[in-house]
Amino acid sequence: MSGIASDPPRSPGAFRQFGVFLLNFLRHPLSVGTFAPSSPFLVRRLLRSGDWSRVQSVVEYGPGVGTITLPLLRELRPDARLLAIETNADFCRHLERHIADPRLIVAHRSAEAILSLMQEHSLPPADVILSGIPFTTLPPPLRERILDATVRALDRSGRFLVYQYTRAVERHLRERFERVVRSVEWRSPWPIQIFVCEGPQAR
Ligand SMILES: C[S@@+](CC[C@H](N)C(=O)[O-])C[C@H]1O[C@@H](n2cnc3c(N)ncnc32)[C@H](O)[C@@H]1O
Repeated sequence: MSGIASDPPRSPGAFRQFGVFLLNFLRHPLSVGTFAPSSPFLVRRLLRSGDWSRVQSVVEYGPGVGTITLPLLRELRPDARLLAIETNADFCRHLERHIADPRLIVAHRSAEAILSLMQEHSLPPADVILSGIPFTTLPPPLRERILDATVRALDRSGRFLVYQYTRAVERHLRERFERVVRSVEWRSPWPIQIFVCEGPQAR
C-alpha cells in the first residue's frame, strides 16, 4: 500500500537518535516527557491503526527524532503531505538533516499554531493528526488551545491519534470527539495509553 517519493527516507541510526533524545529530555523534561523515543511496538501499533493509502494530509505533533515520522512516510502515498510540528530546535534540526523527503514539512513551532501552519502550506483539512506531546505536563491553557485547534484542523471524517503515559487527557478528548477508543501498549518501559478519536465536535 505504500508509496515512496523520489528520495526515500534514510534512517538516522537508533543509537544517535537515542542520544539526541536523552540529551533533550535532560534539558527539557516536561516538554519532552520521556527519556527514550517510542518503542517499535508502539510505532507498529499506531501505524496499524488506519489505512494510510487513503490519507492525503497528516499532521504530527511532537515528532521528536522522527521515530514515527520515518516509518509513517514509508506508508504514505507519493502525493501525501506530512506536517511535523515540534517545539524543540534540536529535534527540528535532526529531522531536517536526516529525513530527506519532499512530502515532509518540519515546523519549529508549537502545536497550537496548526491552523496558521496549514494555511501557510496550503494544506487541506487533516485526515489524521498524530500526537505524542505530553498533555499531562503541559500548562492547562496550552493544552486547551491545542485541543481546540486540533478539532478545527481535522476533516469531519478525520482521526486524532494520541499516545500518552497517563489517562489524564482522556476527559478532554471525550469533550471534543464523538467517539474515543482507548487501548494500552504494554510492551514499553511504562504502559502507553492510546486514544483513537473520531467525530471532531467544535465547542
Ligand atoms: C514523548 S516525546 C515524543 C517523541 C516522538 N514522537 C516519539 O514517539 O518518540 C514528546 C515530543 O513533543 C514535543 N512537544 C512538547 N510540547 C509540544 C508542543 N506544544 N508542540 C509541539 N511539540 C511539542 C517534545 O519536544 C517532544 O519531541
